[in-house]
Amino acid sequence: MVSIVKSSDITKPLRISDELDLDLNDTVGKFIAVLGIRGSGKTNTAAVILEELLNYNFPLTIVDIDGEYWGLKEKYEILVVGKSENVDIEIGIQHAEKIAEISLTKNVPIILDVSGYAYDEAHKLLLLYFRRLWDLAGKFRKPYEIVIEEAHEFIPQGMSDELKRILVKIALRGRKRGLGAIILSQRSAKVEKDVLTQAEILFLHKVVHPSDLKVYKDMLPVAPKNVSEIINALSTGECVLYCGEVCTTIHVRIRKTFHAGYTPALGEIEIPRLKSISEEILNLVRNYTNIETPPLDPQNSLAELESLKEIIEEKNRTIRQLSKDLHELKLEQANQANSTRDSLPSGSIRCRSVVSEQNYDKNGFEEELPLEIIKHIELILKRINCLSRPEREMFRFLLIKDQKEYSYKQISNWIKYSVKTLHTHSLKNLVEIGLVNRRRKKDGYYFCSNFDKFVEKEFGSDNVETELMQNIKSHLKSKII
Ligand SMILES: Nc1ncnc2c1ncn2[C@@H]1O[C@H](COP(=O)(O)OP(=O)(O)O)[C@@H](O)[C@H]1O
Ligand SMILES: [Mg+2]
Repeated sequence: MVSIVKSSDITKPLRISDELDLDLNDTVGKFIAVLGIRGSGKTNTAAVILEELLNYNFPLTIVDIDGEYWGLKEKYEILVVGKSENVDIEIGIQHAEKIAEISLTKNVPIILDVSGYAYDEAHKLLLLYFRRLWDLAGKFRKPYEIVIEEAHEFIPQGMSDELKRILVKIALRGRKRGLGAIILSQRSAKVEKDVLTQAEILFLHKVVHPSDLKVYKDMLPVAPKNVSEIINALSTGECVLYCGEVCTTIHVRIRKTFHAGYTPALGEIEIPRLKSISEEILNLVRNYTNIETPPLDPQNSLAELESLKEIIEEKNRTIRQLSKDLHELKLEQANQANSTRDSLPSGSIRCRSVVSEQNYDKNGFEEELPLEIIKHIELILKRINCLSRPEREMFRFLLIKDQKEYSYKQISNWIKYSVKTLHTHSLKNLVEIGLVNRRRKKDGYYFCSNFDKFVEKEFGSDNVETELMQNIKSHLKSKII
């Protein structure tokens, strides 16, 4: 058995795989990164670490974006709050700070299921939650773990906002306050590099995108050529574990508790009996969240005001940046018009080479898109990001399936949300935006993607050359899928 410390030194083993135990004391307060493509086994790996921590009644918060962690309740007492069909208690933004306080002071493991909130709502709730947690951890200084799925959404490369700053603070400077962080991402290259490279324990599952492989090459003390070979050979559940002293390939054990985010296969899945958190804690949280308007606490209001000011400042920064881009764009267009007026067919937009890492599509082709189109695509992506997660997942599914029609039930068989959740979120917003078409049949509504027509309408098919339109579609599609 390979251990990070000698077996004899292990006092509280965390059983990660048949070949490896970590030691609790060497793991807590550390910054851990679990990376790899979708389906490579990241959530399972995080759940295994969490099961082991929960065996020692370790308090923690899991930010669950896809409703994948509630299965931990099969064995452990965890409170699931947030907004989705799996929560014990639904909470709003105004409750975030209090829940953080209850979790840290009363040692309550929490799953924050944010799958049902719109993007901005989830962001705000998490900001208030983690800011409170950070402040309280400074006072109480006790071991506590936070887990962030889809870290590239919260700690993105190159961009900064208040939520990112507080999460980075927890990951990099949390140890003194007892805070440890586990972050997961399927796009290593899109997580802030300066942060990721400081992770102390790495679980590197399979990646294929060259830019993600490059991140691995930068982090591992192994010749780059060998990194490609080792990573390419990994199968589901296997990863390279790196923690400074040890760099080895392991097969992480499968989690013992129910995996709600399982890859759908044929046959019914039986949902296990779940444990419930103590009545005392439930009542405490219920009493608090039942109060329609939270008591006016000047501290809370001040914090709220500060957070709103930060959001406004952030938006102002974006506006300034966009205005600058627009100005440059206009200058560029004017220059282009001067230099190419004679050679262009009237009314057509000419392709200009704007090649960036972002334009690298899954097939390895680098698209060339004019800057104004890239900006337009970003705006569309922002609109899609404002939808709730189940809506985005439904759209992703329909997009992959191209023009075929599906009912709620059929969609639910493919993605991990129940028919009830899909009904709750419905596809109304997607239909209104024009991304999805709805048709009523005898047995209910059927939906199909209207992506092509949507893009043609947005970019005006009369003004854009066919080849460019094709590029726009593939680029936008690759960003969504
Ligand atoms: N260590 C493992 N051993 C065997 N199968 C695994 C392992 N980890 C994950 N799987 C299987 O792979 C699928 C995807 O795993 P998941 O952890 O959800 O991946 P990810 O979070 O990277 O998308 C699951 O259905 C799971 O059963
Ligand atoms: Mg996952």
